[in-house]
Amino acid sequence: MTQDEMKKAAGWAALEYVTKGSIVGVGTGSTVNHFIDALETMKEQIKGAVSSSVASTERLEKIGIQVFDANEVASLDIYVDGADEINPGNDMIKGGGAALTREKIVAALSDKFICIIDDTKKVDVLGQFPLPVEVIPMARSYVARELVKLGGDPCYREGCTTDNGNMILDVHNLQITNAKELEDKINAIAGVVTVGLFANRGADVVLEGTPNGVVKS
Ligand code: 5RP
Repeated sequence: MTQDEMKKAAGWAALEYVTKGSIVGVGTGSTVNHFIDALETMKEQIKGAVSSSVASTERLEKIGIQVFDANEVASLDIYVDGADEINPGNDMIKGGGAALTREKIVAALSDKFICIIDDTKKVDVLGQFPLPVEVIPMARSYVARELVKLGGDPCYREGCTTDNGNMILDVHNLQITNAKELEDKINAIAGVVTVGLFANRGADVVLEGTPNGVVKS
């Protein structure tokens, strides 16, 4: 089974969490693209979606699913999104696709975070995948120096402007043993918009595509 087939299996498995008449929180990435394909089969039964990126919005609208502004909804039943890494406590690194800020907003609005992954994303300790941090452009160098003080090795993501007009620093060489604490520390640095650690609001359900089918935890 290829990695993409495992992503597809996880994406389609998330369909069972979608309730009729609801507005669905939709994340970003190649695994979520499979979920969007699956959601098309239910498009007459849902009210619409709140999306975490311009890319997902375009994909949803193309198949006729109405996309609501996040300000129009008080809460969402579910948010379905992928991850770059996830540990046994369901803390995640996200933001490989640079959509971390809107992802965090839609996740915060949602009662249940359903994380869809292939079996390469599970790790014991977060940090092998460089941690994305979205920063205000004028704060780039300051934030980078602060991240070095926290033990990381930040690299500017060349050619990447987020949907919010900001830039991304990818922080290498971190061994994240206390994800909540690090999330709080990085959030407190002036100029940081969002850190791609999703620990204070982690996943509630994980659907992992494996060669033996989808494993739920
Ligand atoms: C985008 C994300 C994605 O969820 C993450 O990068 C996983 O992507 P994929 O499903 O393509 O492996 O956080 O910002």
